[in-house]
Amino acid sequence: MLHTLQLAPFVDALPLPEIIRPTLQNGHHSLTLTMQEIHAKVHRDVPATRMWSYASSGAGTGALAPLIEARSGQTLQIRWVNNLPAKHFLPIDHSLHGCGPGVPEVRTTAHLHGAKTASKDDGYPEDWFTPGHSRTCTYPLQQEATALWYHDHAMGINRINTYAGLFGMFLLRDQAEDSLHLPAGKYEVPLILYDRDFAADGQLFYDVSGDPQSPWIPEFTADGVLINGKIRPFFEVEPRLYRFRLLNTANSRFFLLSLAGPSGAVQSFTQIGTDQGLLASPVELKRLILGCAERADILIDFSQSAGQTLHLRTGAFDILEFRVAKQPAAPTTTSIPKTLRTIERIPESSATNTRTLTLHEYQDNAARPMVMLINRKHWHEPVTETPKLNSTEIWEFVNLTEDTHPMHLHLVRFQILDRRPFDKTDYLINKKLRFTAPAATPDPNELGWKDTVQCPPGTITRIIVRFEGYPGKYLYHCHILEHEANDMMRPFEVIA
Ligand code: C2O
Ligand code: CU
Ligand code: CU
Repeated sequence: MLHTLQLAPFVDALPLPEIIRPTLQNGHHSLTLTMQEIHAKVHRDVPATRMWSYASSGAGTGALAPLIEARSGQTLQIRWVNNLPAKHFLPIDHSLHGCGPGVPEVRTTAHLHGAKTASKDDGYPEDWFTPGHSRTCTYPLQQEATALWYHDHAMGINRINTYAGLFGMFLLRDQAEDSLHLPAGKYEVPLILYDRDFAADGQLFYDVSGDPQSPWIPEFTADGVLINGKIRPFFEVEPRLYRFRLLNTANSRFFLLSLAGPSGAVQSFTQIGTDQGLLASPVELKRLILGCAERADILIDFSQSAGQTLHLRTGAFDILEFRVAKQPAAPTTTSIPKTLRTIERIPESSATNTRTLTLHEYQDNAARPMVMLINRKHWHEPVTETPKLNSTEIWEFVNLTEDTHPMHLHLVRFQILDRRPFDKTDYLINKKLRFTAPAATPDPNELGWKDTVQCPPGTITRIIVRFEGYPGKYLYHCHILEHEANDMMRPFEVIA
């Protein structure tokens, strides 16, 4: 194994993705993204690593998939081309649902996470296609500005497809956002965070259980923290306000982010947006926990830090070095708006149905996690969640495990109502719900629109959802990719 913790930190500049803006052709905006095998350097001292990535037609061989920038309300067509090799280079677990004999090794679907998309274009896990094939999907983008992201969703293997590198960022813009005059251009910077382990020769390492019949492991967190494709890079900034678009694409890792000043003292930053767009007003933070698939839109003001060095951290570990120049390139006046937009809270009374969804982990005789389920049901069992189109429902996730699960629903955005701890033993043994503390309202930086929610252990997390958009089959799942594969993922169907 490569000891990534011993690699010299901050020797590579932070890479920035190529930005692609869809071009107007025959009345609609379209673009092509090709999945292909690439070799890219994750660090100065590590030989090039084999990965899979998306590239815009013709160009682009970097580790970072292009950043798509689109306007809200402009229908976009993406042609997803699978040009991957026929053999996978990471360990497939053939005992998992959808990975049995006769199923091709390399399969992909492309899902635009956070987009309000018709079911047939949403990248349903079983809608996979093999190398040499392509799919064209239509994204109406009838939704507000935010950071979306695209990633693989192929049944049973998306955790290794994503680990191989099949993910990218997507920024959706609208007029409401434009009118705020937030830092833009080179002052708006995507930060895509994830973790990887490497073998001594620099090749990606993904762990297995040790049982060749079922190599699946319940979680995977690696030592090497990458941002935009590099291990612990540096970034040169000017002493002024910056906007950072954070996205956690890690399989299992949550990032506990903070900003450390030159002496190590914690400095605050400002969160202005979450998964589904801007918050109502800015929230000053010292610490931000970014779960798998979550996004955070943050502002950092370097104007008082001219000539200094600051670090972005996860826990106590520095992952990105900011080197602040002595002078701004031009005089700047950008400031943080006091209000960002109006967000009306959905009244609980508008919900016509409440669904209780229990989260379970089952262990084998040696106390090893074997399978994780929602409501004790596997993916392939018949649909049980059938909300009506345009109805409002409360979904409560009853977490009976030891982990925090980042639960994600396709198609919709939602608001978090509250979280309330309860006694798991009473619930499981005596079939009695006994709360052990009052319900806690979400933190101020969670009061916006979300599509992924952290559900802590021994807690009931309630969200309120309006099922707008399209009728059809969708899914919801834990975004810890190992959990999702086995089998913490269920369909739901919106009924017209
Ligand atoms: Cu990030 Cu099922 O999605
Ligand atoms: Cu999604
Ligand atoms: Cu989970």
